[in-house]
Amino acid sequence: MTGDRPLLEIRSLEVVFPTPGGTVRAVREVSLSVNPGESVGIVGESGSGKSTIARAALGLIELPGRIVGGEVLWRGRSLSDEKIARRYRGRQISLVSQDPMASLNPIRTIGVQMTEVMARHLKLGKQQARRRAGDLLEKVGIPEPGRRLDQYPFELSGGMQQRVVIAIALSCDPLMLIADEPTTALDVTTQAQILRLISSLQKELGLALMLITHDLGVVAGACDLLKVLYAGEIVESGTADALFHHPRHPYTAALLGATPRLDGTTERLRIINGQPPDLRSVDIGCSFSPRCPNSTSYCESEHPVLEPDSRGGMFACWHPQNHLDARSVPREG
Ligand SMILES: Nc1ncnc2c1ncn2[C@@H]1O[C@H](COP(=O)(O)OP(=O)(O)O)[C@@H](O)[C@H]1O
Ligand SMILES: [Mg+2]
Repeated sequence: MTGDRPLLEIRSLEVVFPTPGGTVRAVREVSLSVNPGESVGIVGESGSGKSTIARAALGLIELPGRIVGGEVLWRGRSLSDEKIARRYRGRQISLVSQDPMASLNPIRTIGVQMTEVMARHLKLGKQQARRRAGDLLEKVGIPEPGRRLDQYPFELSGGMQQRVVIAIALSCDPLMLIADEPTTALDVTTQAQILRLISSLQKELGLALMLITHDLGVVAGACDLLKVLYAGEIVESGTADALFHHPRHPYTAALLGATPRLDGTTERLRIINGQPPDLRSVDIGCSFSPRCPNSTSYCESEHPVLEPDSRGGMFACWHPQNHLDARSVPREG
């Protein structure tokens, strides 16, 4: 543990992707920090910039993508320095992503892939590395770890593959795990198991966790703090409890309405009408206003900034839900 200092600090991050049709502003003015042992959930629709934030946190923004503002610090050191990013990535901070097959090498056994990482980062000998690999597989709930080490990824189910990816992510005793939609590719029952595994490992090992998902239901029990992302910006943040019971931003409220149940029961979904904005032209006004039930013409012309609310959270909205502390907004008409 490193005391009170955040492990990861993202300050006013701006990331763009120049494309032939214009510059995509994928991440706008995003600030967040993750302390040792803390779990932070990032929730937003597809295309809202979640994976770009994850990649920035790993020092992995690659051309044509560019960081054009702000900075990312890992334990106080800038990850824009590729040497520093390389030293920490996969070791102190590791990634579990959506598609386990894309993370695993299809033509090498599980054992070879696991021991390779440990040989590189921990300088373990062959026997030692193999023993540790077996222990890790056991830790992530894979039966008969000794036999699994000699199998290839395709011989395992999707859920088992994801467990292997998690075991590899843990293999160098990281301080922080970034899980980017770790359950999206899995069936509902397996999703719940993998989430429970990530959550229990996080607590048991005292890991910091950034859990990224498009599904608020997924981060429900798993995270202390939530950040709701819309069109590249954080529009609301707060404790999981506050956001669930008293969402202030209409988008958070809409996401709650559109959250499928994790237990697989079908609940009538309130679909969020409309489309997210074109990220090549998102300058004035509130990006959510075209889809927002509370929107006024003021919202279309004035950009709301993230400000603290009275309960320790933050939201960026001129006409929030439950107007406990509505901001002074010029009335229409
Ligand atoms: N390499 C790229 N080139 C151009 N645009 C990109 C690239 N990567 C991401 N984007 C754009 O950046 C935005 C955010 O993408 P992403 O971070 O992947 O969102 P999410 O993970 O929330 O689905 C999207 O509009 C996406 O199209
Ligand atoms: Mg993504």
